[in-house]
Amino acid sequence: MKNKILKLKEELSVVILAHYYTTPEVQDIADFVGDSLALSEKAATTDAKIILFAGVHFMAETAKILSPEKTVIIPDLDAGCSLADSCPADKFAKFLEKYPTHTVISYVNTTAEVKALTDIVVTSSNAVQIVDSLPKDEKVVFGPDRNLGRYVAEKTGRPDMVIWDGACHVHQRFSLEKIIELKKQYPNSKLLAHPECPQPVVIVADYVGSTAALLKASKEDGANEFIVATESGIIYEMQKASPGKTFIPAPPDDSDCGCNDCSFMKLNTLAKIAKALETLSPEVTLPKEIALKAEKPIKRMLEISRELKII
Ligand code: 13P
Ligand code: SF4
Repeated sequence: MKNKILKLKEELSVVILAHYYTTPEVQDIADFVGDSLALSEKAATTDAKIILFAGVHFMAETAKILSPEKTVIIPDLDAGCSLADSCPADKFAKFLEKYPTHTVISYVNTTAEVKALTDIVVTSSNAVQIVDSLPKDEKVVFGPDRNLGRYVAEKTGRPDMVIWDGACHVHQRFSLEKIIELKKQYPNSKLLAHPECPQPVVIVADYVGSTAALLKASKEDGANEFIVATESGIIYEMQKASPGKTFIPAPPDDSDCGCNDCSFMKLNTLAKIAKALETLSPEVTLPKEIALKAEKPIKRMLEISRELKII
């Protein structure tokens, strides 16, 4: 299967982009593996005419918005995102009617329709810096992740930031109780947490950041053991980069063992990738009008990120 994919990829000059949350075998056949921000930047700058996005739908949609002339395929159209689903565009539009003068900041984990209602898109890599770059008296609505929103509001000293009440089914299930149990077993470990985790987990974390930031911390910190409170796919890259270190996946709150996996990311299998390359489908498409409106806030994010030297 792996050889078949590599052969088809070569013949068709396809670039395969994969998120850190996909399985190790998928990461191994990708041309580039990264977090949401790095993947958006790659999608915007690649010369390839066909992009296969091994991630979730909003990521492939973002690639299509940034490169409308390219063919963007995704191995499984059902690879959605519970966080994006927690913010339907019609309800968000109604919510925004209450805040007509606020600047609307949306996490990249949203549909194109929600991005079309947004002033600036952010990812977990740049949300704090982008919000911080706005004048202090500028009022902000942040959506859809309540945990990331609260974290950004705290970090940027904006207690009046209006936050949409959405969450990710994976990160919402990390709990302080489970982390304390692991800390007793591994007293010298450091805790790495994604800002989509609930507040108690974020408060006790040694590092809080995007998957790329947590990977960097795991390489640079001198500790030998790390508890990882984000989707477990990232552990593959962490272990590859630091073979001598131990990475312990934090379990979800309703389980004593096992990893906290994103069921959507795991829909990307080698068999589906091979089929998508053979058929050049399913293709991600979207109405031109929505794509044009959604493009502006994504481009704004990339511009600010370049200005701030985040990418
Ligand atoms: P990153 O911004 O770290 O890529 O996170 C994406 C994501 O889906 C988190 O759940
Ligand atoms: Fe969406 Fe959560 Fe999966 Fe990330 S981990 S893609 S936010 S459902």
